[in-house]
Amino acid sequence: MYHHIKELMYTVNVGDPDPRFGNMLLEQFGGANGELAAAMQYSIQGWNCPDPALKDLLLDIGTEELSHLEVIGNLARLHLQPTKSDRDAAEADPLIAIAGGGGVALQNSQGNPWTADYLKITGEIDVDLRSNIAAEARAKIVYERLINFCDDPGTKDALQFLMTREITHMKAFGKALESLRKPPLKIGRIEPTPVLVDQYFNASTGESQDGDTDIRGPWNEGEDWERVDAPAFREFADEEAGTREPSEEDEGSSGDAAKKAKGRRKSKGGE
Ligand SMILES: [Fe+2]
Repeated sequence: MYHHIKELMYTVNVGDPDPRFGNMLLEQFGGANGELAAAMQYSIQGWNCPDPALKDLLLDIGTEELSHLEVIGNLARLHLQPTKSDRDAAEADPLIAIAGGGGVALQNSQGNPWTADYLKITGEIDVDLRSNIAAEARAKIVYERLINFCDDPGTKDALQFLMTREITHMKAFGKALESLRKPPLKIGRIEPTPVLVDQYFNASTGESQDGDTDIRGPWNEGEDWERVDAPAFREFADEEAGTREPSEEDEGSSGDAAKKAKGRRKSKGGE
């Protein structure tokens, strides 16, 4: 059950209200990476979690995110309040000014309503923990950008607190994932197809106007990697070289694919 304590988790002081900045703050109130999304994602994952230890973790952090929602909501409201009565301020967020009377609403900075589609909940705890680590990283970077666009010391101070807690949560989710001792590529129960799983498809060829070339790195070479031409390119290259053998499938369809291949070669040559 929930209990409300009539005190913010972090004190909010706003010197000069800035309605345009208040509008930006709504991104962390009702936006995709905002506090309500985090609170709902972790709480619902927690309610679904059969492991009591991880359930406790998810509900602790989910509940803290609700407290963050209260902090960011109060902060945004203080910045948006002038929109209720001041015409110039109202232009910063007409929807909040006209429909909401200067109060916060569950929408992002563009006025799009909050949606449960933001939530990533799969019912596989290791997959969910990875989503949560990514969610915290996104929230951290959004707070950082808000701090960079803010001049008000009291607002910056509260945002610094909220930003810091995202890293704390990232750390806790990361440690929880480690505690499962699952190899990082072991997802679910069905094994991936051998050989295919280690093939890196090189799906781009040629050099662009900037001279980009294919780059090698640990993401496509070394260890078990086999770097191969992408299937679509192999087909294209065989056609170009005239070495493409019609497959059984082609024969079955009266050689249509072979004819098409010939046609494509023609049009490429401008004949
Ligand atoms: Fe948060």
